[in-house]
Amino acid sequence: MANSPLAAVVLCAGKGTRMKSDRAKVLHSVLGLPLAAYPVRRALGLGAQPVVPVVGHQAQAVEASLRGLFPHAPLRFALQAEQRGTGHAVMAAREALAGFDGRILILYGDTPLLREETLRALVAAHEAGGGPLAMISTEAPTPMPYGRVLREGGRVVRIVEEKDATPEQRAVRELNAGIYSVDAGFLWRALAELKPQNVQGEYYLTDVVELAARHGEVATVRAEFAETAGVNDRVDLADCTRVLQARVNRALMGAGVTLVDPATAYIAEDAEVGQDSEVGPLVSIGPGCRVGPRVVIEQGCVLTRSRVGEGTHLKPYSVLEEADVGPACHVGPFSRLRPATELAEGVHIGNFVETKKARIGKGSKANHLTYLGDARIGAGVNVGAGTITCNYDGVQKHETVLGDGVFIGSDTQLVAPVTVGEGAYVGAGTTLTRSVPPGSLALSRAPQEVREGWAERKRARLKALEAKAGPKKP
Ligand code: UD1
Ligand code: CA
Repeated sequence: MANSPLAAVVLCAGKGTRMKSDRAKVLHSVLGLPLAAYPVRRALGLGAQPVVPVVGHQAQAVEASLRGLFPHAPLRFALQAEQRGTGHAVMAAREALAGFDGRILILYGDTPLLREETLRALVAAHEAGGGPLAMISTEAPTPMPYGRVLREGGRVVRIVEEKDATPEQRAVRELNAGIYSVDAGFLWRALAELKPQNVQGEYYLTDVVELAARHGEVATVRAEFAETAGVNDRVDLADCTRVLQARVNRALMGAGVTLVDPATAYIAEDAEVGQDSEVGPLVSIGPGCRVGPRVVIEQGCVLTRSRVGEGTHLKPYSVLEEADVGPACHVGPFSRLRPATELAEGVHIGNFVETKKARIGKGSKANHLTYLGDARIGAGVNVGAGTITCNYDGVQKHETVLGDGVFIGSDTQLVAPVTVGEGAYVGAGTTLTRSVPPGSLALSRAPQEVREGWAERKRARLKALEAKAGPKKP
């Protein structure tokens, strides 16, 4: 069965009591992605189709999260309403895999450190071995309550769970990682034979290994223990983050990205960062971000589902959320780019500027203390300090349109819907309520009054009052 089709089952039904959480364990995240997303990603990376997450605890929330993260992937969800063991969980996936004939990868939802290469080796070993099942085994640096791999004459004969093992069996160092590649037809037949006759009264998936060993050799692939370790509590979660972070960061540095302090750079596994980019300390680059080459991201920036073009400079503490920043832009320090912000080439967004649903044309600038929401701004526009688009009337949002080459003076309120035509000027301090034709000046100012000598007279009055009140008490 070389190159037979591949599907995957990801066991995600467990509660994860030791997390001490209201949230299902597999929804806790590592570097911006929920635990369950990692095995799903690996399986998809290997071309598995379909991938069947078996959900139970908070089934709806787990399903919604995975569907949101992998909107176009061939996912089919299976429900395991009651958790009666790993074998029982795989049985729950049978309907979702009806008609599938090939190899089925079985993964756990709580092992984010398992690498795609290891799974490739597992599938290759399964193909080469010719038996109905291949599995991953490992050895732990310290005793772990894992199933023991029992061999006779070198061949795997079965797995015994720690709780069911004799003292001699417990001394076996080779552990079952719980990750398998199994022929579909064999799997369903074997699962039908399982009986919950063990200390825990559960349907053990591990019993399938014994049945497989009777049909042919069970191929094993060795993995490092760290890769197979599941997350059981919050300490494991933090440990996992550290290991994955080191792995991701090392790969990026290998690809020519400077990380000023890798220990405090939190970059999602699926984020892209281009060559010769530089990432400062305390920077987060979340899942789905695409950062081009020669980008500088200074300290404290937080990027979520955003794109940043070549040669752009993000100064400290800028926050980008679903923003699309073009090449050669300057952003920050302390800028906030909210969803549907689109900056063309060479745009400057400065300190304390917030943008939302704002398309800003080539070379335009908004350098200080400004809010640009629901705005379409042309090229070469200068937005002065303290400009506010008044986009919300309490019920609806309205659009502000600024043509190419417009100059907006400081402290302007643009009461939307409003349009300023190409090349027009709006004087400082204006409250703009009507559209401005191209090339004109719009100005709204209260007339200025000057009272000469007023300050001197005022001070004299105050002094007289003080003299009347007598000396100040200490
Ligand atoms: C399992 C293996 C053990 C192996 C270990 C490696 C069995 C019987 N034992 O033990 O040999 O060394 O993994 O980590 O398979 N799950 C469900 N539904 C269930 C039960 C479990 O979805 O009814 C999920 C859990 O959420 C978890 C995974 O399956 O992600 C493993 O279950 P767990 O109970 O932790 O198995 P172990 O007892 O650790
Ligand atoms: Ca476990």
